Amino acid sequence: MKYDFDRIVDRRGTDSVKWNVSRSMFGSDDVLPMWVADMDFRAPLPVLNAIIERTGEGILGYTMLRESFYEAVADWFRRRFGWKIGKKWTVPSPGVVPAICTAIRAFTEPGDGVVYQPPVYQLFERSIVGMERKPVPNRLVFREREYSIDFDDLEEKLKTAKMMILCSPHNPVGRVWTRGELKVMAGMCAEHDVLLFSDEIHADLVYPGYGHVPAGAAGTAGEKLICAYSIGKTFNLAGLGASYNIIPGKETRKRFEEAQKGHALDTPRVFDGVALEAAYRHGVEWLDELLSYLRENCRMIVDELPKRVPGIKVTMPQATYLLWLDCRDMGMSQQRLERFFASEAGLGLNTGTSFGPGGEGFMRMNVACPRSLLEEALERVSTAWKRLKNGTPPE
Ligand SMILES: Cc1ncc(COP(=O)(O)O)c(C=O)c1O
Repeated sequence: MKYDFDRIVDRRGTDSVKWNVSRSMFGSDDVLPMWVADMDFRAPLPVLNAIIERTGEGILGYTMLRESFYEAVADWFRRRFGWKIGKKWTVPSPGVVPAICTAIRAFTEPGDGVVYQPPVYQLFERSIVGMERKPVPNRLVFREREYSIDFDDLEEKLKTAKMMILCSPHNPVGRVWTRGELKVMAGMCAEHDVLLFSDEIHADLVYPGYGHVPAGAAGTAGEKLICAYSIGKTFNLAGLGASYNIIPGKETRKRFEEAQKGHALDTPRVFDGVALEAAYRHGVEWLDELLSYLRENCRMIVDELPKRVPGIKVTMPQATYLLWLDCRDMGMSQQRLERFFASEAGLGLNTGTSFGPGGEGFMRMNVACPRSLLEEALERVSTAWKRLKNGTPPE
């Protein structure tokens, strides 16, 4: 391996959300944080160097995106997903969640229904509710340890909805939707004149054997389609917020752009172009090695955790570094489960219920960290479980 993902980077005291709110989130400073979705690895050097070089100019004034930014995006799509995107289809945004909010504002009215598929990334529901639209859950089905879509229910819900937010690949269940599944979803949205917002922020974090298909490349989407991407998750640059949307439909693009402008969200920030171009042009090798490392991390937890705590089941995710732990056989209430992991094991995980209906009895674990931290996590959870079984109170 050329890149050292084993290297420990001490993030304590760096204003990192993941590492510096343990006391308020989990009740103790001695918690290994494995929750919010960023990684404990340094971003690729060419990206960091490009940012340093840009800073060296000494003036960080208002900025614009060069033609080469759009070319880098188009190249990325051609190479990684085999999707040839049109020259004008790329619309930058200051983050995927801000783009979701813009789309909600532009394509729906207060009180309108917005479909989403829980258990799913918390900010979908929060954005829908926060903007006074009606959250319409199309719950995923969990059968034989695999998640799938209830298409009958989806069709029913789309009949009265104005928008659907799709998570593709899916956080937290780790599914990569197949071309067939995407075709059906996109086709249904088109048929019912529903805007499909496909959040594809995890698209680059797909493991070998599974291919990500952008919703726009599935073949059945209509005019009302927005696919959102970011370098934040892929290259561990979430704090930059550099994201963009691919919007093939001219009318949809215009409406989205106007809505962004209306809220002054259309001005690029100074590092957006610099970081994206460096990442897409010089970060591929880093990304490929990262994926191998992450897959091994997932494998380690999938193999080891159920041995240490027999009530936990985990399946290998098809994408993302987020493991969805099925803890239902531990026989604990959600509150007790949270207490077990945070207070007794000293692990900071996301509680399943924060992802909406279907999250009861589950916890989400972020494994994007050096392997030695995973070993420590396994040790912590085994010790806590043994103590619990032996009736020894936690220290
Ligand atoms: C599915 C999904 N969408 C969006 C985001 C956040 O995107 P941004 O930071 O660009 O707003 C996350 C972060 O975890 C995510 O998992």
